[in-house]
Amino acid sequence: MPAEGTPAQRVVLGVTGGISAYKAVEVCRRLVEAGVHVSPVLTADALRFVGKTTFSALASVPAQSSLFDEASPIPHTRLGQSADLVLVAPATADFLARYAAGMANDLLTATLLATRAPVLVCPAMHTEMWEHPSVQENLDTLRRRGVSVVPPESGALAAGDVGVGRLADPASIVSVALAMLGGRGDLSGRRVAVSAGGTREPIDPVRHLSNRSSGKQGHALAIAALRRGAEVTLVTTVERPVPAHPRLSVVRVDTAAEMESVLSIESDKADVIVMAAAVADFRPKQVATKKLTKDDGVPNIVFEPTPDILCGLVGRRRAGQVIVGFAAETDDPVARGRRKFERKGVDIMVVNDVSAPGVGFDHDTNAVTIMTADETEEVPLTTKDAVADAVLDKVVALLAGQEGRTGAPGAEEH
Ligand code: PMT
Repeated sequence: MPAEGTPAQRVVLGVTGGISAYKAVEVCRRLVEAGVHVSPVLTADALRFVGKTTFSALASVPAQSSLFDEASPIPHTRLGQSADLVLVAPATADFLARYAAGMANDLLTATLLATRAPVLVCPAMHTEMWEHPSVQENLDTLRRRGVSVVPPESGALAAGDVGVGRLADPASIVSVALAMLGGRGDLSGRRVAVSAGGTREPIDPVRHLSNRSSGKQGHALAIAALRRGAEVTLVTTVERPVPAHPRLSVVRVDTAAEMESVLSIESDKADVIVMAAAVADFRPKQVATKKLTKDDGVPNIVFEPTPDILCGLVGRRRAGQVIVGFAAETDDPVARGRRKFERKGVDIMVVNDVSAPGVGFDHDTNAVTIMTADETEEVPLTTKDAVADAVLDKVVALLAGQEGRTGAPGAEEH
């Protein structure tokens, strides 16, 4: 919720006529819960899927759906001029075409022409429509005009089909919307590099060695840092959808070596580095150039250690830079985490007991112990977004006191 006396930021939530319009109800609820003033605007076709009453009951003001049924004769200008963000979820192919063409034939498109606020669209449609060149060209046009896009995810679609086109998760949409609104801004002017996902170490042209990291925790950290005003570089091994945002760069990597080389460049400019990635500790010493087959018998793969990226980053730490490590533990997590904190030389160690239910790899939730040199804070089971904010709260507190510090060596062992 906004601090007392702070006016709530205003979002116009546009809902267009697709099957996933029901998920916009959750987007609306979460935004209001986050203290945002939400004005829902539903197109005529959206009303075929969801009721105005539902949005009116949840939002800050009654939902609107027409240019002409309001007491005010010009509702679009009032909505557009007062918005801090216009968010359209779901955005259908038809809506994207009308918006890209500059049409104003309903309240939503008229509001979009009447606003100078940032705009975020979240497309959802069947795979064939999503991949159609006209849809992609309309999106390119909108992106060129500065519109941000949360791309659809892959999964179950209407009528039993499966493919790309499903509306992004409402929690992710809200997270991006809050990031665009600027949030607390306590990381504004700071550069934050976050690693996410499990590295993939090749064995032969078709096989690799990896782990169960989904990248959810790392991506949540990147979005939270963005929401708090930072310039963010996300170095990730996973394809999870991320918003197009001017303060977010995404670098896709596979191996520990690739992650290390990107992060070593980032470390020269970052104020904060967060290593949430699950980096493989070992990799095959030699990568077979041809696919290993059963005819060759059971392979005898010799492993070698990967570079310890975190220790390398600590070794070259710039003055004032805050470095955060994660520790995935199963036995005696707090004691082992504290030892890892000392060994790695980090400023913050975030320990998760990945043997506990709902914690760590691939879950939407996490529970962590956040360690600094003189504090240990427990964060009980919660969303990965909430864990991200708890970690960044510690980062913000340390940044204030870190100016003037010089690099400290980290140990090789992990
Ligand atoms: O991705 P999710 O599915 O959301 O799951 C989240 C998570 C469980 C992966 C995350 O919360 C987490 O714990 N990440 C770190 C996992 C890990 O590799 O822990 P570790 O204890 O093995 O490594 C300690 C630290 O050293 C980590 O910050 C790791 O990034 C770093 N490391 C490890 C090995 C290596 N060669 N280089 C490194 O930099």
